[in-house]
Amino acid sequence: MLTGKTIIVGVCGGIAAYKVVEVVSSLRKLNAEVHVIMTENAAEFVTPLTFQSISHNPVTVNMFAEPVYWDIKHISLAEKADMVMIAPATANIIGKVAGGIADDMLSTTIMATKAPVIFVPAMNTNMYENVIVQNNISKLKDMGYTFLEPDSGLMACGTTGKGRLPQPQSIVESIKSYFSRRMDMEGYRVLITAGPTREAIDPVRYISNHSSGKMGYAIAEAAAARGAQVKVISGPVHIQKPHTAVIEDVTTADEMLEAALNSYNDFDIIIMSAAVADYKCASIADKKIKKTDETLSIELVKNPDIAKELGKIKKQGKVHVGFSAETNELVTNAKAKLKSKNFDMIVANDVTMEGAGFGVDTNIVKLIGKDGSILELPLMKKIEVAHKILDQILQFKSENS
Ligand code: C5P
Repeated sequence: MLTGKTIIVGVCGGIAAYKVVEVVSSLRKLNAEVHVIMTENAAEFVTPLTFQSISHNPVTVNMFAEPVYWDIKHISLAEKADMVMIAPATANIIGKVAGGIADDMLSTTIMATKAPVIFVPAMNTNMYENVIVQNNISKLKDMGYTFLEPDSGLMACGTTGKGRLPQPQSIVESIKSYFSRRMDMEGYRVLITAGPTREAIDPVRYISNHSSGKMGYAIAEAAAARGAQVKVISGPVHIQKPHTAVIEDVTTADEMLEAALNSYNDFDIIIMSAAVADYKCASIADKKIKKTDETLSIELVKNPDIAKELGKIKKQGKVHVGFSAETNELVTNAKAKLKSKNFDMIVANDVTMEGAGFGVDTNIVKLIGKDGSILELPLMKKIEVAHKILDQILQFKSENS
């Protein structure tokens, strides 16, 4: 599967370094050529000899060691690489790269490469959540570097939280999917609605819901990474927005509908992941409503159903994908929506399941096609769910072209 691919694995000084031995071993079994570069701290946790034996290649720690090759190694490896993956990526290497520091073999290679660089952070939860580390991650993401989300759980230091290295097989899966999906969406134009909408009650209050926008933005990131031209019509969200997509910010369902109608003709795949408020206030108070009476009634009127409106004007060759967040009768309710909104596929998720739905980084979904096919996916990171949704869309397109 990875035959002909050269992957540089950069290992930093964290306790999770030992887990990367299994990653390297799996990459080798998939026929990748793997070159390991370790930081000096990493060599305190696992010996270079271990990685050398597993990778079947010399391991570099020190830039100034006796050369094994005739050429300048950090340049030759950096040029040869099809991917550079840093695991565990410590706060230190993330900070160094974000700050432009190249003072050892690993940081110098990262600076010198034009290959995609994937960071797999693993560190103590407080370190991971530190605003400096988070800012560095955001900065690097904005510049096109990729990050895999750390897992949550019990850490080696005894605390529980986010910061564990993902399971080796999960890292390998991400690498495999990176290579297999690369650029298979070039030429496609994808329009995504994402996040909640906000319907004003008065100048300071509104009706909304718990949608974080994470699923829609994950699809945007995945589609752009695969070469698609992507636009997100986004309700108010508080997440990092990818620089690889055009974002049009809206607030209300009416604004989202208008934006979607304006863009519709320019896109061939329409993914409606927004959690649009079903109702809005019949009239918005122009002054803050005072708490005078014991009860307060607000008259609500139906919002436009964006998916349904687009479904009515659906053009030949366009693919419409919707979402169905349910608490009961998942498949029945989702199938009814698929039909009434003229979707080609619906992503159904039971939001009562742990690890699914609003706010979290994972989801458990069923992909239901208009031919009645159902693909049940296990608990997955939202970015992986996003790729699966896109895989299904491409398959649908190839079967219906
Ligand atoms: O009817 P329900 O809200 O459960 O349907 C969900 C699907 O319809 C999602 O794809 C959502 O983005 C879309 N939708 C919409 N406009 C609405 C309500 C839902 O586009 N007003």
